[in-house]
Amino acid sequence: MANEEETVQPRRAGGNASLYRANIVKDDEFYTPYQDIEKELNHYAKQFKNKVIYCNCDDHYGIGLGTPKSQFIKYLADNFEAFGLKKVIATHYEPDKDHSTMYILDKDNTGDGIICWEDIEEIKLKGNGDFRSPECIELLKQADIVITNPPFSLFREYVAQLYKYKKRFLILGNDNCRTYKEIFPLIKNNQFWCGYNHVKEFYKPDGSSKKFGNVSWYTNLPNSRQNELINTGKQYAGYEDMYPKYDNYDAIEVSEVKNIPMDYDGVMGVPISFLDKHNPEQFEIIGATESEGKGFSNGLWNEQSRVAQPLINKERKFKRLFIKKKGD
Ligand SMILES: C[S@@+](CC[C@H](N)C(=O)[O-])C[C@H]1O[C@@H](n2cnc3c(N)ncnc32)[C@H](O)[C@@H]1O
Repeated sequence: MANEEETVQPRRAGGNASLYRANIVKDDEFYTPYQDIEKELNHYAKQFKNKVIYCNCDDHYGIGLGTPKSQFIKYLADNFEAFGLKKVIATHYEPDKDHSTMYILDKDNTGDGIICWEDIEEIKLKGNGDFRSPECIELLKQADIVITNPPFSLFREYVAQLYKYKKRFLILGNDNCRTYKEIFPLIKNNQFWCGYNHVKEFYKPDGSSKKFGNVSWYTNLPNSRQNELINTGKQYAGYEDMYPKYDNYDAIEVSEVKNIPMDYDGVMGVPISFLDKHNPEQFEIIGATESEGKGFSNGLWNEQSRVAQPLINKERKFKRLFIKKKGD
């Protein structure tokens, strides 16, 4: 989830730094609307056949009672037969309780001839359902694909665990994660890419909703988006003035993805929204601006400038990714 989740209390006069840090409130309770789950997951339906899906940040209890809770389990249960799923497992975090609950769907428990929501079994967990706990890791090991919207405050740790256990996944995350030092190398190596959609609004536990402008789906499941070619119809030759060179990076500035010149063979700086459209067969990601991490620019930065943000005629620009057309 988005940065807005970290609400910082005003610093009080005379307050010390540790008190100030303790006042940072992490709010991870945002629930993903059913229709947004449907819109994204539908694209991967064929890949779900005969698979064990694990939703490890998902509370099912309360659905149907009018309480906003995880719709991931509901959506997967509604489509259990259509997708040909093998099993759905869900666990959620109960920080203040000794035991959380696991939800399992894998057979027709009601005997009505279909496997659906009513067949979900509830089983008491030994612990509080933390996705990092040994019992949740055992469930993770059983899973073929992990699907959820994880807590944004633990996003780095969450993704690291998915890679540690070599899992396929479809998760939601903030757009800023694209240049995290833990995530960017995965993107660069084509191990982590964008899904099809952004999610603009989430529900709070009290039923109210909150809008976000920067939450996207991320995955390592094959998707057709990765095969689409960017074709802006724009040219560098004859329009050089539209693409100035940075003062402090060895690249040209392309301020919007829709303006990427198709005939330019050198390095270009583009906004991070480029990743929504990235096809690794078409462009290579060389690096990112040093403002995102030391060494990120892969030697494109002129260190003597001492300014990590990209500059054009001394004017600071937003962070950029550096890309280059792939050779034929
Ligand atoms: C952004 S919410 C999304 C909830 C649900 N996946 C959905 O999309 O509707 C993230 C959820 O992760 C849960 N969470 C926080 N820390 C967790 C942890 N250590 N282990 C498992 N879940 C955690 C929060 O309680 C919260 O419900």
